[in-house]
Amino acid sequence: MAVRVGVLGATGAVGQRLIQLLDPHPEFELAALTASDSSAGKTYRQAAKWRVDSPIPSDVAEMTVQATEPDAIPDDIDLLFSSLPSSVGAAVEPGFCEAGYVVSSNSSNGRMDDDVPLVIPEINAEHLDLLEVQRDERGWDGALIKNPNCSTITFVPTLAALTEFGLEKVHVSTLQAVSGAGYDGVTSMEIIDNAIPYIGSEEDKLETESRKLLGEFDGASLTHNDMAVSASCNRIPTIDGHLENVWVETEDELDAAAAAEAMEAFPSLDLHSSPEPLIHVFDEPDRPQPRMDRTVGGGMAIAAGGMQETPFGLQYNCLAHNTIRGAAGASVLNGELLAENGYF
Ligand SMILES: NC(=O)c1ccc[n+]([C@@H]2O[C@H](COP(=O)([O-])OP(=O)(O)OC[C@H]3O[C@@H](n4cnc5c(N)ncnc54)[C@H](OP(=O)(O)O)[C@@H]3O)[C@@H](O)[C@H]2O)c1
Repeated sequence: MAVRVGVLGATGAVGQRLIQLLDPHPEFELAALTASDSSAGKTYRQAAKWRVDSPIPSDVAEMTVQATEPDAIPDDIDLLFSSLPSSVGAAVEPGFCEAGYVVSSNSSNGRMDDDVPLVIPEINAEHLDLLEVQRDERGWDGALIKNPNCSTITFVPTLAALTEFGLEKVHVSTLQAVSGAGYDGVTSMEIIDNAIPYIGSEEDKLETESRKLLGEFDGASLTHNDMAVSASCNRIPTIDGHLENVWVETEDELDAAAAAEAMEAFPSLDLHSSPEPLIHVFDEPDRPQPRMDRTVGGGMAIAAGGMQETPFGLQYNCLAHNTIRGAAGASVLNGELLAENGYF
């Protein structure tokens, strides 16, 4: 039987991707949509300025957008995907969890809380068991699980593939697409013919979330990975797909061929939205590129290439689709992991 799901913040950039991914989903049945008070009461077609690269699903178009509050959500919904601005998520997500809903959220609020699992299923599915700690501590019938920031998701799978070499220092420099800022995030006057070497709070997210994701969970608490991570984040005028340049210093010797082999061999999962392979390694030195490679694995794979040894360790490039693998697809995948682990 399908799991009945809803989307909080369904009209935004990530919300629209969620609608696109959920419409044909074999396990999930979309039954509720919410947005801000200015959208509540309208049909989805009226409320959402649809900008995704496939037609708006006709049945979803006629659904009524609800206010973002627990009383507006039918009781028989099991799982809510949240793509609310973080300030709004911080204010309302706990109320949904208290009311018994399981929330799989994109928003950055709570990601670093000790009892909130921050999960990329192929990397750290075992962190899901933190939900038992969370329920004990917060007394919720529901639960809150987070996926990382879109730029964190892009490089952490490649690091996970290299952990066997002993990660010591990581430097990552990002070239991030405008859709990562949301529909109203960056104006055309700011970004056309330009690059912006600052994205508020982004560097801190890459540095802290990566260490949490690659940390060890002992059944009661999580110890963050002790590698040093330094990030520098840049906005560039691409629409979708975050490209990142990474330098990794490892305890054991790591050459370009061994890195490529480890990334290619890194296992995926048998979940509906997990791509096979998880990391697609290009031989061509000028790949991956956002326009050409952001849809590898249906937008759920990580693309990597350009491995080379440097005085600063192994250098390579990686890329992921920021609103699919980096946001909507990541939340859906976490929903699939929850379903597989009997949460509904
Ligand atoms: N874009 C990305 O690549 C990306 C990647 C990873 C994570 N995220 C995170 O995902 C979240 C959503 O990002 P986005 O890019 O989709 O943002 P967005 O395009 O600005 O969409 C925000 C959504 O939240 C709704 N909303 C705004 N204020 C609200 C309020 N006070 N109460 C209820 N609903 C409200 C909006 O509804 P209205 O249409 O009615 O205003 C809209 O549905 C953010 O936390 C962001 O940091 C984004």
